[in-house]
Amino acid sequence: MSEDRAEPLMLTPGPVSISRRVKEKMLQDLASGGGQMTENLNFSRQYLVELCNGQGGWTAVPMQGSGTFATEGLLGTLVPHDGKVLIHTNGVYGDRLVDICRSINLPFKSFRTAPYAPPTAAEFEAEIAADPAITHVIMVHCETSTGVLNRIDEIAAVCRKHAKSFMVDAIASFGAFEIDVKKHSIDAVIISPNKCLQGPPGLSWVVVRKSTLEESKGNCHSITLDLYDQLQYLDRTGAFRFTPPTHVLSAFAEALREHQEEGGLEARQERYRRSWRRMVDGMRQMGFQTLLPDDVASPIVATFHDPHDPNYSFQKLYDGMKARGFIIFPGRLAAANTFRIACIGVVDEHDIGRAMEALNEVVAEMGLQTFGRVDIEPEKSAA
Ligand SMILES: Cc1ncc(COP(=O)(O)O)c(C=O)c1O
Repeated sequence: MSEDRAEPLMLTPGPVSISRRVKEKMLQDLASGGGQMTENLNFSRQYLVELCNGQGGWTAVPMQGSGTFATEGLLGTLVPHDGKVLIHTNGVYGDRLVDICRSINLPFKSFRTAPYAPPTAAEFEAEIAADPAITHVIMVHCETSTGVLNRIDEIAAVCRKHAKSFMVDAIASFGAFEIDVKKHSIDAVIISPNKCLQGPPGLSWVVVRKSTLEESKGNCHSITLDLYDQLQYLDRTGAFRFTPPTHVLSAFAEALREHQEEGGLEARQERYRRSWRRMVDGMRQMGFQTLLPDDVASPIVATFHDPHDPNYSFQKLYDGMKARGFIIFPGRLAAANTFRIACIGVVDEHDIGRAMEALNEVVAEMGLQTFGRVDIEPEKSAA
């Protein structure tokens, strides 16, 4: 599937490799309003809302910058000064939600659960019951720092029961997992263009309940990140308040057309799942161990323990893979002495087969003793 062997293939959970078709859309200069630009914007907004079944009550608001910009904009805009956010964290990106609230002086309470398992509904019940001041709840869907897939549907039910506004950081997962905002009454979903949607980075999105956003005038601590103002201006004029990333918007709309043509959420998850299965099986055959059991892992990224071998060095592993055309990623603080390999972007199981072959060579080059050979034939791998 990867198209350009001259470029390294990103096996990282962002930035991801994107298609030539999407990249070529960035060769076109477009005016900031009207014509093609408006068409791209309208199509993208509508497609994102439909992807999470939000037709009618929800709207998609673009925000210049990476996913964290949209997250800060959402928290700053939706949570009033007399509100209080309950933040769940079981990894680096949950911790980032805490950092944001702290830095913009938003009242919050955070709670941490084990990094290698999703939190339970009962844990949220207890936190909410213990603090009646809580008005909003936010959590990460796929906690990319470990790969654990948090069960947002169960937590949405708790928030619905207690009438708390529920927001989800779906930056890593959106585009490959069903998130039904209507069914689960989710107020807002934060989206990255450059993970499972396979667009270029630089423009993030929030799908947000219209009635909730309409009540949030004047809340935001920032001019640039004010989602309320961004939406008002967009709906009134059809344009961004500030210079829009026109090239990125064109390419993003094309990435969404690709998503649609591939078969939407199910087809995309299916491709990722096949790649993930092949990677995890291949790595285990070589002797590597995953940080997570398969039943709590997202099929888009896997975290592996560093081998206990004096000849092992992550830098050598990284350099050896890079020399063979693959970029992998060191683990983050949530799990020290680990590294991650992702299978999102324009990657399929055959690319993963080549990556496993490369990894076999690098392992042999390093002289790791405890590793056998992995079976690299696609037809012999587990589906
Ligand atoms: C779950 C999650 N949240 C937030 C972020 C931060 O997004 P960005 O780096 O686009 O600001 C990431 C990035 O990988 C992520 O995976």
